[in-house]
Amino acid sequence: MQLFNFDNEFKLGIEQIDKEHAGLVNMLNEVHILIRENEKAKARDFFRDTLSAFIEQHFAHEEAFLQDIGYPQLEEHKKIHAQFRQSMEATLSHLDSEDDTVFRNGLTDVYTWIINHIGKTDRKYAAYLEASRK
Ligand SMILES: [Fe+2]
Ligand SMILES: [Fe+2]
Repeated sequence: MQLFNFDNEFKLGIEQIDKEHAGLVNMLNEVHILIRENEKAKARDFFRDTLSAFIEQHFAHEEAFLQDIGYPQLEEHKKIHAQFRQSMEATLSHLDSEDDTVFRNGLTDVYTWIINHIGKTDRKYAAYLEASRK
């Protein structure tokens, strides 16, 4: 399985946020490494506990930051986080099923969502911040 690197294109130029985004991508890589090493139970536990808690924390930090900078699309951004949280919870609720595809598909969905969210949706507030500094 291909491993993922935190590419420069995901950097928003906001130190704490970039650190957290890099942390998210590293954790997703971690889950993939565990799967590759056939540590399935560990991979599921890490996904369920460590990764999902980190995502929660990141959303809270990010929303507080957006509030601080007076981001006009904060409410919309919060809704997008809330929708993701719901689908993550749905994935977690099926995680213990015998069927491994549930976990793999869930992981792929989370990975795809995070990469798209950082690359597109989060990028919008970075652009707002940049413009407001000028
Ligand atoms: Fe983010
Ligand atoms: Fe976000």
